[in-house]
Amino acid sequence: MHNLYTITFSPTGTSQLAADRIAEAFETKPVSVDLCQEVSGEIQIEPDSVCILSAPCYGGRIPETAVERLSHIRGNGAAAIVCVTYGNRAYEDALLELADCAKTAGCRVIAGCAAVGEHNIMHIYGTGRPDASDLDELHQFAVQAARKIEAGLAEEPVLPGNRPYKERHVSTMKILTDENTCKSCGLCAAKCPVRAISDDGRHVDETLCIGCMRCIKICPEKCRKIPEELVSGLIQRVGKACEGRKANEFYL
Ligand SMILES: Cc1cc2nc3c(=O)[nH]c(=O)nc-3n(C[C@H](O)[C@H](O)[C@H](O)COP(=O)(O)O)c2cc1C
Ligand code: SF4
Ligand code: SF4
Repeated sequence: MHNLYTITFSPTGTSQLAADRIAEAFETKPVSVDLCQEVSGEIQIEPDSVCILSAPCYGGRIPETAVERLSHIRGNGAAAIVCVTYGNRAYEDALLELADCAKTAGCRVIAGCAAVGEHNIMHIYGTGRPDASDLDELHQFAVQAARKIEAGLAEEPVLPGNRPYKERHVSTMKILTDENTCKSCGLCAAKCPVRAISDDGRHVDETLCIGCMRCIKICPEKCRKIPEELVSGLIQRVGKACEGRKANEFYL
């Protein structure tokens, strides 16, 4: 193997955690490509490398920003393990779409998984996941994927999902800032994957915001949130589908 890469779009860290856990099975330090940062030009991957591509499921799809940034990758035939994380509802066409992105970028998809994480909007679902048992499952999967690569087996797994993919629902998400507690530190503005926040942190451009929840998670003053009624409305609409403990799914 030439190099090991984790290529992730992970606004609130779950997909990064899953990718890092998978990478551990390879016992070599991965090169990290963070697609939450803007990408210009091509990202060249050496042939014989292994790429772990990971992103969250948004409405059964991969976030459009991730799709665009993945298009900068030049896989040059590297082996790819694709991983979506989702908040215990469903991942529908997201894993298939991520695999298609990897293939379009010139990678060979040899394994895929859908891992359950805490829902970063409705935190009552998938709470605390991935937990120790999830991380163990991810490790076992990664060991098998590594063996497959080592044995030179290039067979592409059959992944669930449909083409054409589910229609993308672009809904604007209102992000509220408590102006009394915001210290204008600028952290949220610097870390917003789509630069939707003014430098002083006080204004969000709703036409740019993708509702990724990163600024809410990272604000040290905890002064950002989405309206309570939005969360309760969502729980009313899709809560039933999020109940119970969903299993991680692995494809080799
Ligand atoms: C805009 C948005 C849409 C989401 N859609 C889904 C979904 O369709 N199904 C699901 O189970 N979880 C959904 N989630 C939850 C995320 O997929 C889940 O929390 C994921 O692990 C977050 O990944 P990250 O921490 O790498 O950003 C959604 C979250 C957001 C912010
Ligand atoms: S991270 Fe929080 S305190 Fe800092 S600018 Fe953003 S909202 Fe204000
Ligand atoms: S402003 Fe929107 S896109 Fe930017 S970090 Fe916050 S939720 Fe994500």
